[in-house]
Amino acid sequence: MSLKQRLMVLSSIWLVFILVLVNGFTYFFVVNITTKSEKELMLNKARTILEKKDLLDPTLWSEPGLLEEFLVTNEMIRIIGRTGLIQQQVFTDPKLTAKQVVWQTSYNVEIVRINKERYLYVQVPILAGNDQVGVLELGRTMRLWNEYLDVLLTALTITSFGALVLSFIGALFYSRFIFKPIRHLLTTMQIIQNSGTFRKLDIDYTSRQDELGELSITFNDMIGKLEEHFLKQQQFLADASHELRTPLTIIESYANMLNRWASKDAELRTEAIEAISSETKRLKGMVTSLLQLVDSEAQALVELQTVELTGLIESVASSMELSFEREVSVVTDGRTYTILGVPEKLRQLFLILLDNAIKYSSKPITVYMGQEEGGVIVKIADHGIGVAASELPHLFDRFYRVDRARTRQTGGLGLGLAIAKQIVQQHKGKIEIDSEPGVGTTVKVKFMRMEEQ
Ligand SMILES: Nc1ncnc2c1ncn2[C@@H]1O[C@H](COP(=O)(O)OP(=O)(O)OP(=O)(O)O)[C@@H](O)[C@H]1O
Ligand SMILES: [Mg+2]
Repeated sequence: MSLKQRLMVLSSIWLVFILVLVNGFTYFFVVNITTKSEKELMLNKARTILEKKDLLDPTLWSEPGLLEEFLVTNEMIRIIGRTGLIQQQVFTDPKLTAKQVVWQTSYNVEIVRINKERYLYVQVPILAGNDQVGVLELGRTMRLWNEYLDVLLTALTITSFGALVLSFIGALFYSRFIFKPIRHLLTTMQIIQNSGTFRKLDIDYTSRQDELGELSITFNDMIGKLEEHFLKQQQFLADASHELRTPLTIIESYANMLNRWASKDAELRTEAIEAISSETKRLKGMVTSLLQLVDSEAQALVELQTVELTGLIESVASSMELSFEREVSVVTDGRTYTILGVPEKLRQLFLILLDNAIKYSSKPITVYMGQEEGGVIVKIADHGIGVAASELPHLFDRFYRVDRARTRQTGGLGLGLAIAKQIVQQHKGKIEIDSEPGVGTTVKVKFMRMEEQ
């Protein structure tokens, strides 16, 4: 059963329930009110009859015409004596006399059903002084009342049925109106699935000021993100294959050269072997970086541990100082900062940043550590070539290098900062670069301190 059918069935069932409840209440309310007034009327009539003095004297009960003056259509009046026998009885409807005679000592009103017809009976004691000498009984056919109730019942049934039909037709229309965008969403999703292309919902759906509008906007956002991700992935593949091609082409051409000429020319041979070896190294480095990138993209950090950041940075700085024979000084505010993270990843992060600072500058490098708005900040500052403001937004893109020709000599792949950004994001931190061409570059990394996490 579709959602639309389910909604229609449910709303119809609910409507039937409401109609039964409301109409049932109306019906019983009317029945109650009308019987009450009928009963009152009969009792009043009995009282009026008893005001006639002749009636209080049992010796006069056999006199003809005693009750005649009170008789109207569809009624019966009778006097029951102390023996329980009928003393006098007048009626216009013989069916009313069918009721058994009962001796009543108090006022009594009852509705009796005989052969599916309702009759109203009233019994009032006849008192002579304090003594009860008989019972005055009045009966009335409730035919008219019955007919009224039948009309009421028919009217209620017809209006209920009409309401049900109208609501069903209404539901058909409004459910079509409500379900149209959902159906459209479903069709769009199926098209995306079958064709493998990205599609968005048009403005008719996204401009709606309701949940369906929100759903459409969210859907479009999601598709937009997926498309962006997909394009990035494609771009990455294209870039990676392009980057891998260059060293491979170099290796290939030197190998060919070796094949053809190198046996004769020793100098050429040395050059070719050196070039092949350096390009192979480059290739290896690139593959390692690519694998690192994919690896850290795939897995979130699971085994977080407390890392003493100050010590870690000092050790990275001194090892870089040693291997590159460059001055790297660490300036701290004397405190030790601890964060939650993975030490190897953090070590790799600062290696990447220091490697850049060393590669793109020739003066001493300073690493500052301190706190800012409850977080720990690490700044790596160099006084090197710097980066133009227009280049800054792209530095974290994979394979992005400011000056391709220049970085080729320094051996850069353009993957360092992309990896660095991933590591920082995995540690829920932030990374920013501030740079001025010819003046220097400062990379700022911010982490949440342990107490805050
Ligand atoms: N401290 C810096 N000073 C000047 N330019 C920088 C600095 N750091 C990064 N850059 C620029 O940003 C580019 C991207 O840096 P990234 O570290 O991602 O790649 P890379 O250093 O070229 O290669 P690798 O993958 O080997 O790190 C660099 O090519 C360089 O042009
Ligand atoms: Mg780098």
